[in-house]
This record gives sequence, structure tokens and C-alpha cells, in this order.
Amino acid sequence: MASAVRSPGDDGFFRGRPVLITGGLGFIGATLAARLVGLGARVTLVDNLMPQYGGNWFNIEGIRDRVTVHVADVRDAARMQGLIRGQAFIFNLAGQSSHMDSMTDPFTDLEINCHAQLSLLEACRQLNPGAKVVFASTRQLYGRPDYLPVDEKHLLRPVDVNGINKMAGEWYHILYNNVYDIGGCSLRLTNTIGPRMRVKDARQTFLGVWVRDLVQGRPFEVWGGGQLRDFTYVDDAVDAFLLAAADERANGGVFNLGGDGAISLADLARLLVEVAGGGAFEVRDFPPERRRIDIGDYYADFTAIRERLGWRPATPLREALARTVEYYRRHLDAYL
Ligand SMILES: NC(=O)c1ccc[n+]([C@@H]2O[C@H](COP(=O)([O-])OP(=O)(O)OC[C@H]3O[C@@H](n4cnc5c(N)ncnc54)[C@H](O)[C@@H]3O)[C@@H](O)[C@H]2O)c1
Repeated sequence: MASAVRSPGDDGFFRGRPVLITGGLGFIGATLAARLVGLGARVTLVDNLMPQYGGNWFNIEGIRDRVTVHVADVRDAARMQGLIRGQAFIFNLAGQSSHMDSMTDPFTDLEINCHAQLSLLEACRQLNPGAKVVFASTRQLYGRPDYLPVDEKHLLRPVDVNGINKMAGEWYHILYNNVYDIGGCSLRLTNTIGPRMRVKDARQTFLGVWVRDLVQGRPFEVWGGGQLRDFTYVDDAVDAFLLAAADERANGGVFNLGGDGAISLADLARLLVEVAGGGAFEVRDFPPERRRIDIGDYYADFTAIRERLGWRPATPLREALARTVEYYRRHLDAYL
């Protein structure tokens, strides 16, 4: 797609370079893989395809014969050592991202988002210290914001187990950058949306369920409705990963991603219906178990990455929603 940000790969930067994407069959990882294939990189994907997460073979339709895929678990340290050797860039996106699952099954979250991250970095230190590692972090680290928009100076005070483990995962990357010179940095993603996102359930994003119900002609449920959120279109998130990988000024940094402004969930629901040319939604009370770990209003200040790397979200929300609906009208069956 056309992007206002000049992708660093446009100048041939990634051509012929070996690249590993953990979580590469997932929503963002597979979108990144497609872009890197187009830029001429030698792309290897690792993903364990656990059914609770967003990994899906359909996500790499069209590039399947141009990537190497290892169905493997990032918790398998020995297997990961073999995959890390020789990679110039590691885009580290394998993660457990359901906030609710992190509360009902905290140790799986710990193993994937924390322990496995440390062993991946240890493998880099021992076998591939020249690698550059870009970590997919989350706005969940901030918890309930003290002020808006949230910048990177905001206190980190996670409200769920996922936020705590992702925080540790992020800081291992920064530590290994600072102490061992393994080029590492972290992108704190906010709600990322677009083609390839999980729509089976709300584990990845509530918007997936909204889009699924809408495309199937059912009213979707909005919980609360007053909460403010920001949204990054997945191609814009991919731009940020590429910029962070290609630019040494990113090393040791943590950067918020954001979207084109804040919107309440009720307004988002109205916009989605409008963009889709029809549909309905119902506003419900927040379920109590979710309210306990809800972060209230959130939207990001992304000045830091704009100033350091020149990134900004290029896709208006309306267009992001339109492309997403259009994709699931064609491909919903592959995601149910
Ligand atoms: N989508 C968002 O809005 C969002 C927001 C904040 C942070 N993030 C982070 O971005 C990253 C990518 O998220 P996504 O939205 O593409 O989700 P996703 O679930 O589609 O992708 C994650 C991939 O990681 C794989 N994976 C999980 N555990 C694994 C393991 N132990 N071994 C190997 N593979 C494993 C999954 O199978 C999946 O394909 C995650 O780390 C997530 O925490 C995403």
C-alpha cells in the first residue's frame, strides 16, 4: 500500500539480508513478512500455531513459497539457537497477548513473554551478537494512565500479568543492548488493526469480533462505549518495525506507536457501521472480570519515534476500517 513514510527498504537496505520473524504466522508478523519478501529479504518465520493465538497459514498466502517456515516454539531454547544463528535482523513478535488469559493462566504468559525472551537474547549473546532485535511491546505496560496522551516517561504500572511480563521482556532487550551491544529496541504498540487480525474471539482485539459479527450480519456488542482509544493500521506498524530495524539511532530505545487521534468506542462503532455501509451494535455494561483489569482511557503520544525515526501513522482510521472490512468480506472463512 502507499505509505507517507518512505520505507527504509525502498533503497534496497533489506535486500538479500537474512531476517527472522518470531510469531511470523500471526497478524502483524505475517504482514511484516509480506513486506520484507517484497523488499527482497531472506525471510524465516517461526511460529508455534497455538490455537489461542493469531497464527494462521492463510496469513502468508501469496508468499508461502518465498519464506522458510519453522513450526516451533520460542520456549524451545535449543531449537531457537539454531534459528537465531546467522540472522541479521530478528523481529521478535511471538507473544501471548490476551489480557484475560494472562490472569487465568499466568504461567504460560510468563514462559512466553518473559522467560523465552531472555533465552532468545542469551542465544543472541552467545551465537549472534551482531543481530539487531526489534521487540513488539505494548501500551499495556502503562496500566491506567495518569495523563493523556501517554508518553514514554509515564510511570509503568501494569494492571495485569501480561503487562508485567511484557515489561520484563521489553527491558531484557534494552539491557542486552546496553550491556552486550546487541542492537535492541522496543516498540510499544497500541491497538493494531487490519487484514489478518484474529476475529475468532476478542483475545487479540475486540475489534476483530466486531468486524466478524458485522460481516456475518449480526449486531456486535460494545462494552461501555465511553473509553477513548487509538488505533494503528497494521501497515503503519510494519513501517515502524522496518524503520527501527534499519536505524541505529533506535538502539536502546522504547517508542510508543499511535494512531490518527483518539476516539471513543461508541464513536468507533458508529464509524465502523458507516464505513461498512450498514450494520448494528448494542451497548452493554463491561463484564466485571474485565472491568478489574481495564485501563480506562488511553491514547499515545508518539513524538519520540516521530522525531527519532521519522515515523507517523499514515493511514486514516476510516480507511483502515474500510480495508479491514473489505478483507474479511472476502476471507472471513479462513479466520473462523
Ligand atoms: N495486535 C495488537 O493490537 C498488539 C498490541 C500490543 C502489542 N502487540 C504485540 O505484538 C506481537 C504480535 O501480535 P499480533 O497482534 O500479531 O498477535 P498474533 O497472536 O497474531 O501473533 C503472535 C504470534 O506469535 C505466535 N506465538 C505465540 N506464542 C508462541 C510461542 N511460544 N512460540 C512460537 N510462536 C508463538 C502465535 O502463534 C502468533 O502467530 C505480540 O507480541 C503482541 O503482544 C500486539
